Amino acid sequence: MQYANPLVTLVCCLVITGCSPDDPATPSTTTSATPDVSWPMHGLNAGEARYSELTDINQESVSELAVAWSYELGSTRGVETTPIIIDGVMYATAPWSVVHAIDAATGKGLWQFDPDVPRQWGRWACCDVVNRGVALWQDRLVFGTLDGRLIALDKQTGRKLWEVQTTPRDKAYTITGAPRIANDKVIIGNGGAEYGVRGYVTAYDVKTGAQLWRFYTVPGDPSKPQEHPDLDIAVPTWTGEWWNAGGGGTAWDSMAFDPELNLIYIGVGNGSPWSRYERSPGGGDNLFLSSIIALDIETGRLRWYYQTTPGDNWDYTATQHILLTDLTINGEVRKVLLQAPKNGFLYTIDRVSGELLSATHYVNLNWASHVDIESGRPVELEDANYSEKLKKVMPGPTGGHNWQPMSYSQNTQLLYLPAHDTGLWYKNDDEFDYDPRTWNLGLKLDDEFETSSEADPPVFRGHLIAWDPIERKPRWQKRFTGHWNGGLLSTAGGLVFQGTADGHFTAYRDSDGEQLWQVSSTSGFFAPPVTYRSDGEQYIAIAAGIGGGGMFAPVEGAMINDYHNEGRIIAFKIGGKATMPVSKKRDMTLPELPQIPAGEDRIAQGKTLYNTYCIWCHGGGAVSSMLYPDLRYLSQEKHAIFKEIVIDGAFLGSGMPKFDDVMNAEDALAVQAFVLEQSVLLRQGLIPETR
Ligand code: HEC
Repeated sequence: MQYANPLVTLVCCLVITGCSPDDPATPSTTTSATPDVSWPMHGLNAGEARYSELTDINQESVSELAVAWSYELGSTRGVETTPIIIDGVMYATAPWSVVHAIDAATGKGLWQFDPDVPRQWGRWACCDVVNRGVALWQDRLVFGTLDGRLIALDKQTGRKLWEVQTTPRDKAYTITGAPRIANDKVIIGNGGAEYGVRGYVTAYDVKTGAQLWRFYTVPGDPSKPQEHPDLDIAVPTWTGEWWNAGGGGTAWDSMAFDPELNLIYIGVGNGSPWSRYERSPGGGDNLFLSSIIALDIETGRLRWYYQTTPGDNWDYTATQHILLTDLTINGEVRKVLLQAPKNGFLYTIDRVSGELLSATHYVNLNWASHVDIESGRPVELEDANYSEKLKKVMPGPTGGHNWQPMSYSQNTQLLYLPAHDTGLWYKNDDEFDYDPRTWNLGLKLDDEFETSSEADPPVFRGHLIAWDPIERKPRWQKRFTGHWNGGLLSTAGGLVFQGTADGHFTAYRDSDGEQLWQVSSTSGFFAPPVTYRSDGEQYIAIAAGIGGGGMFAPVEGAMINDYHNEGRIIAFKIGGKATMPVSKKRDMTLPELPQIPAGEDRIAQGKTLYNTYCIWCHGGGAVSSMLYPDLRYLSQEKHAIFKEIVIDGAFLGSGMPKFDDVMNAEDALAVQAFVLEQSVLLRQGLIPETR
């Protein structure tokens, strides 16, 4: 294990292998009595536990926690970054993969690097133009861009050192995840399963950017040789012509590294299309969809895998946070891996062998009764079989837990988990045809889907669970208004921190969930907080700015609905003297309606086009989340240039893609007629105002 910073080695040594506590704590650079403490890796250490040993901010002092500084990212889209902090500098990523270097004690901007992602690429991002952060190696930072590049920067100056394209540019691949660096290798995955791509992860040499190995997570066309032998066990688990739509299996977020075993654990995503009846019509488990794969870091070869959802049918990715720790189970210390994927079961797996130790449901679910421990397979229920009939399945596509990271506290031995109860109607589209220019779900969003959703609306309820991994049940829980809340941080100060979608940032006592401190913000939170010490003081920092894939569910009654979603980093310290920044107010007056040629046929045609190309961002029935404009409120002036916006890309610079490849002026007029119709219904009070 070769890391530049001795603290990195120390932290992962302490948390993963539990080495003796009197190992010398080598400070990074400072000579002061209280040395600087960094946040050097995505999950703080290679095992990604997100538990800090810092205690200056603790159960007694936390009531004095106040804003120390804030830094404007200049964005209005989702901010999912985990900042890296080293040598007194914070490195955070913003929407469109822009990197910001910030003085960690003062919040002063040092440099920015904008990789100039073409704004049209926003059309290939299922879940907003987010980025989860940079990785650090010696004097350099490495990060991925939305359009599939991997870039290394000099961390002092922000100067580019190398750049590689990790994905074919003619396919709808994206990178939103943070790379991980282990044994001088940068590992990066990608996203895009909704548009029909084939998932893979690649290792590059951190010094040069040269490609070292690549692991495809699903097999290619079986008439051709597979790229690596691990795929031979995957080929027989597929049927039909899955390779046309790529198959999916994109590894867009989670990884963790065990330096003793030299294994990198990677979470693999959902199938493409979602419906297995269309993707693999003859059945089959569809390896390695929705699996955790353990790869040898040197060769990229498979050591073991565990598939959480064989034959994924509901967008049940296993890309959720993978967390490594040691647990004493039946008197025996086991090196384990913990994961709570979207499917609603929390898995404890022996990370040496891949043996399933337990699987316990942590949210309400109706797709499976339980996981059979012997076979490791879930026992599916008829309630979730939507091949013939519309069914409401729990969890829904945002899952029981999404990308927002968990935290495992050494103080309490509890796992803190940002969970949600979700449920959605699913119905197979047996006329499904693959279209690489939009989402490919294999689901029918028809009138029956709409009326059922109105009569029995989708479920979105968020909670924070303090989970006892030995007893396999919650020790305490909190319930929230919004479902799409932030990742977690726990500390040796006996605290758990979480931001929520409704704009609160809260500290809880780790043992019983008692709320000890809270602030409110005009921008919601869903990023995970971090902590560090700089110039002798401990800071807690978090990015504000909601977004991502869960924002179609409104946060009813929350203050954030009245403000623009300004992205910023906010840092807190004991006795901080800065004020909480306030975002610009949103104008919600209904404009005058323009007259355009409508007619029922045109509106119906517009609805079909809208549901094919616009719904993914502007919301069902044009009732949008705050992230994208609610088109029912579109002004006369913008209605006058509707075609220019939609076909010619008039607002491309601010992230509204153009659709000239799939629509003409007549089509744009039809979509406009549908949007206007929705606006009229809103004025008549026939559809809700809620965003
Ligand atoms: C990938 C996400 C995405 C998709 C898909 C998308 N839009 Fe947009 N749209 C945006 C964003 C982001 C903006 C805001 C741009 C800005 O701030 O100026 C926007 C703005 C607009 C505006 C201007 C709104 C205003 O108040 O300024 C119109 C009109 C619009 N979109 C129509 C459409 C239509 C019609 C479709 C489908 C054909 C569509 N959009 C699909 C992201 C999207």
